[in-house]
Amino acid sequence: MLPKGLHEAVAAVAFTSVEVHPSNAEQARAWNGDEGAYWAAHVAAFESSVSSYDGPFAAATTVTAGERVLDVGCGAGGTTLAAARRAGPTGDALGVDLSAALLDVARSRARAEGIANVHFLQADAQVHPFPTAGFDVLVSRMGAMFFGDPVAAFTNLARAVRPGGRLVLLTWQPLDRNEWLTAVLAALAAGRTLPGPPPDAPGPFGLSSPDRVHDTLAAAGWSDVRCTGVEAPVQYGDDVDSAHEWVSGRMSWLLADLDDERRRQALEDLRRSMQEHLEPGGVQYPSAAWLVTARRP
Ligand SMILES: C[S@@+](CC[C@H](N)C(=O)[O-])C[C@H]1O[C@@H](n2cnc3c(N)ncnc32)[C@H](O)[C@@H]1O
Repeated sequence: MLPKGLHEAVAAVAFTSVEVHPSNAEQARAWNGDEGAYWAAHVAAFESSVSSYDGPFAAATTVTAGERVLDVGCGAGGTTLAAARRAGPTGDALGVDLSAALLDVARSRARAEGIANVHFLQADAQVHPFPTAGFDVLVSRMGAMFFGDPVAAFTNLARAVRPGGRLVLLTWQPLDRNEWLTAVLAALAAGRTLPGPPPDAPGPFGLSSPDRVHDTLAAAGWSDVRCTGVEAPVQYGDDVDSAHEWVSGRMSWLLADLDDERRRQALEDLRRSMQEHLEPGGVQYPSAAWLVTARRP
């Protein structure tokens, strides 16, 4: 059963256009454009790349039977489906995301797996009017660092969680602790300097600074904010060929302005780097993330 009011919220979105805050318009364009399309076509690869974090993330969320879970930036719904299974028939999970393409994948997976207590909603989590105190726990695996106005977003999300409810986010630590990206940028540079995504701005490293996490969540009304470091390999594929194909496709925009010779060099450098990172379990690069936990007073 969905909490009272949620049926209406889900239904309303099906018939109206999605309200996106101007500060998130660029993200909405990307996740409904090339970024979302590439992700939707490679869901298994994306999800397996962070699968080493599944255990610590599930352990931190501690979803139990009967709980109502809100999964923010749920993408193709892997973590939403996992939460729904743990919440069982007396609980439920709602996955919210900007990307229509990813939500289509999520809904197909729910149907294929016969999971009935899960729902997906296309919305901007920063401004969507969720039912007040409609959830016991908010979770997000790498989906809550993209807000244009993080304090407004986490204030809106705090209202959606019942007093005493909890928040569990998985976010990247700073770029220099994440070789899965620095090594790829270095390999694809072909003589250029390729800067990584900026910290403290909407993007993968938007919540990489513990000070910023604390300040943001405290300002948004959350308490007991903690960042616990976790380190695990990012898995790019079972072998070099599959890893190379996936990563070079994902990063193809970085190659767009290279001539043929430099593009060939960049792709070769990427292959060499992957060869050097080939472990018995596949192509793996070191990474570091935060498990962010907090409570709604
Ligand atoms: C890196 S993906 C993570 C997807 C998913 N959590 C997973 O682990 O597979 C980030 C997701 O956040 C979503 N997102 C970004 N900004 C959002 C917003 N303001 N409201 C809802 N979803 C958002 C994107 O559409 C994208 O699907």
